[in-house]
Amino acid sequence: MSVFHLVGVGPGDPGLITLKAAEVLERCPVWFAPRAADDSPSTALAIAAAAVDLGGKEVISHTFPMKKVIRGGEPDPEVARAWDEAAALVTERLAAGAEVAFPTLGDPSLYSTGFYVCEALLARAPETRIEIVPGVSSITAAAAAAGASLCQGNERFTVVPATYENGALARIIENSDTVVLMKVHRVMERIKELLAEMGLLDQAVLVERVGQEHQRVVHGLAGFDPAAGCHYFSTVIVRRRNTA
Ligand SMILES: C[S@@+](CC[C@H](N)C(=O)[O-])C[C@H]1O[C@@H](n2cnc3c(N)ncnc32)[C@H](O)[C@@H]1O
Repeated sequence: MSVFHLVGVGPGDPGLITLKAAEVLERCPVWFAPRAADDSPSTALAIAAAAVDLGGKEVISHTFPMKKVIRGGEPDPEVARAWDEAAALVTERLAAGAEVAFPTLGDPSLYSTGFYVCEALLARAPETRIEIVPGVSSITAAAAAAGASLCQGNERFTVVPATYENGALARIIENSDTVVLMKVHRVMERIKELLAEMGLLDQAVLVERVGQEHQRVVHGLAGFDPAAGCHYFSTVIVRRRNTA
């Protein structure tokens, strides 16, 4: 059985792809690229292809529906089917002796579909060899773009999906020095209200599409209009002791 490589390609700027990621992508004849819908391009594939020539490679684009996954719960059947179909296609290529690369946005250890595919692969073929190549996460790229440190000394740093309800988010924020809110795009109105109630609007930075075209960094959310919306690739850093 050949090797399945889960490769972090960074948040967008091809300059943030590591040498190791480029070397693995170069070597693998098959790329398995995640996309959110049949008619939407794969961002991870676009980033990888900006750094490594696709010539002669088999690229399999596979749709993973964007639905909420609660760990420990039963996944949505459409989502589970997408993971299983991905595992079947990958297993076939691995059994034929091809090394397969799965480019994934940012770092694979953070909310990546690639890990569900690994679980489905191992359920299907427990002998599957998996290697993980870390990448620059949007979290650290966002901190760099904001000019902020995420934690220093004895500080506590928490990462959480902004889709948690405000009571839970408030407790998390109160118990952390820095909080990174991911997946904020659909809930910015509610998040702005919460930060206003907690007196933290000035300590928040919104970083949108870091490392990509139209990158935007908004320091302080008092003047930010959530009704105007923000892109799916948006992250909010709340630094209670502002060191930016
Ligand atoms: C499914 S998670 C993937 C995280 C990714 N594995 C990482 O390490 O950055 C998607 C969320 O990551 C954040 N994100 C991903 N790319 C981003 C970018 N270029 N700029 C800002 N935030 C980004 C957003 O909060 C988005 O909703």
